[in-house]
Amino acid sequence: MIQGVIFDLDGVIVDTAKYHFLAWKRLAAELGFDFTEEHNERLKGVSRMASLEILLSVGGIQHLSDAEKQQLAEKKNRWYVAYIEEITPSEILPGFLPLLDFLKNHQVKVAVGSASKNARTILTRLQLLDRFDALVDGNRITEAKPDPQVFMLAADELDVPYHACVVVEDAESGIEAARRAGMKCIGIGSPAILGKADIVVQSLDQINFNELLNLTDSIKSMSS
Ligand code: BG6
Ligand code: MG
Repeated sequence: MIQGVIFDLDGVIVDTAKYHFLAWKRLAAELGFDFTEEHNERLKGVSRMASLEILLSVGGIQHLSDAEKQQLAEKKNRWYVAYIEEITPSEILPGFLPLLDFLKNHQVKVAVGSASKNARTILTRLQLLDRFDALVDGNRITEAKPDPQVFMLAADELDVPYHACVVVEDAESGIEAARRAGMKCIGIGSPAILGKADIVVQSLDQINFNELLNLTDSIKSMSS
């Protein structure tokens, strides 16, 4: 049986990806180019500064100094933080709270493993902060997904062996990070993007809880 579940935050527990997108799109508009949802897909799971680099490459903008890049990232973050200050528990994605209750009832430990430096603010707004046994966020890691550091640190804090952990992720980079950590992985979203996950479902409420409990023993199809 599994012993720990590590949830990504953005796009898994709450749809903050749409707020990241709005803020990046606004920055791109200010810089004079369009930034589409398709472009935004490349930013999922990616750290703030790495996201900025991708955005600048989309706009063909080169030769900015580190200080200028820092200013742009801070500007984007101010807009993003203004959005997330409005978040309420009603935005917790369907299926998450029942899954959390189920895992607690089965003595499975739970953590958040997120690239975001705003994770604590978001979890506080969602009134979820005290529901997790560990929180590893963008302030605590030196290597971004697909590096496995964030999930390994979370598992260490849960005191659960990596092979007994399951990661729940919506980003390709996060699936890769889970695999490199030696963990099983459930992808939330499109099989075309998340095909390397052990199981892919469209949304959290499609997860078969009992199959999840046994995921480290055997891989079965959870999709309906
Ligand atoms: C990840 C998001 O969870 O966090 C990325 O998927 C985001 O889109 C990254 O860039 C960093 O977030 P923040 O809040 O530290 O800018
Ligand atoms: Mg995510």
